[in-house]
Amino acid sequence: MASLIIKIISYKIFLSMYIFPMCNNALSLHYGGSNYRGKITSIVTVDQSGKGNFTNVQDAVNFIPVNNYHWICIHVRAGTYNEKVTISQEKEYIILEGEGRRITVIQSADGGEFFKTSTFTLFASNFVARKITFKNTNDFRPSLRPAPAAIISGDKAAFLECGFTSVQDTLTDSLGRHYFESCYIQGAVDFIWGDGQSIYRRCTINVTYDVTKGNDVGYITAQARHGAMSKSGFVFVECLVVGTIGSIYLGRAYTSHSRVLFYKSRLEGRIAPQGWLPWYSAGKVDDVVFAEEGCRGHGADQRKRVRWEKKLSHKEVESLVNVDVFINYDAWLNKLPSFLHT
Ligand SMILES: *[C@@H]1O[C@H](CO)[C@@H](O)[C@H](O)[C@H]1NC(C)=O
Ligand SMILES: *[C@@H]1O[C@H](CO)[C@@H](O)[C@H](O)[C@H]1NC(C)=O
Repeated sequence: MASLIIKIISYKIFLSMYIFPMCNNALSLHYGGSNYRGKITSIVTVDQSGKGNFTNVQDAVNFIPVNNYHWICIHVRAGTYNEKVTISQEKEYIILEGEGRRITVIQSADGGEFFKTSTFTLFASNFVARKITFKNTNDFRPSLRPAPAAIISGDKAAFLECGFTSVQDTLTDSLGRHYFESCYIQGAVDFIWGDGQSIYRRCTINVTYDVTKGNDVGYITAQARHGAMSKSGFVFVECLVVGTIGSIYLGRAYTSHSRVLFYKSRLEGRIAPQGWLPWYSAGKVDDVVFAEEGCRGHGADQRKRVRWEKKLSHKEVESLVNVDVFINYDAWLNKLPSFLHT
């Protein structure tokens, strides 16, 4: 009996250590056993050298049938894929998996007109990306302009160990409930922005811009919650903020009810003492919810913060930082293939 248990345990450790990263082997690890959506039913491989099913990512997405209700994994082998990828609303239950965020990169170089310039655009709900980077390498000279690396407009999307790199509007967290874990997000201006309802857990946020020295102010967030009834907001849990820019704001209010919380995060880099800017809510900041709770690091000193920074009650903080309360009340995260659970 004991040896059987040891065998089972060591088999599980073996699975998680070696087989874990691959979509195909996750088949045997499906969540709960009863939820068919927790299984990955097929895999397509994208390989630049022609040894997979497709040589670019968009072709693999196009191959997936509309109104799909089973998890399908698109495994993207090592390489930099120079293309734009769009997942339309009817293509649900896709897992887009690279081989590491420094190893598998999707990139394009375009800026200006918003929706046309993003490297990755997601309209579908029920989506997972892991171990892959989305990059917009637009040249921002002579001036800054929107150049998203990703626009996320579907509900129930999870990003694990992903990278998002651009300068302005890098991660357009546009609409829906999203969970980001162990991701890397790089930019300078409003580079996490939108009306999304999201938790960022253990992510690294790098406020940096090396094209010219002209711009030396950074704005991490520009959250766009529209009213008191809206549940949207950006919540950063145990994140790390670093940067090379001279003056970094945690956020500026894009709308009247803009909502952002930094919780138990390490704020390094030169965070502006005021912390936040009213921007479009200048003169009417009462409904803006910008808050910090339990942060540490060089930039975490709250003594010179704007007076309208909110002090949330314990209950309010809990309702935002608790994944199950804020974004997972219908347990969608539990229905992802179980290899995604940490
Ligand atoms: C992808 O390629 C593998 C290996 O050649 C093959 O077994 C599989 O059927 C292909 N899948 C599709 C959807 O073409
Ligand atoms: C942030 O970006 C700068 C400049 O590109 C880079 O030197 C630094 O290593 C980055 N920090 C992290 C934590 O990735």
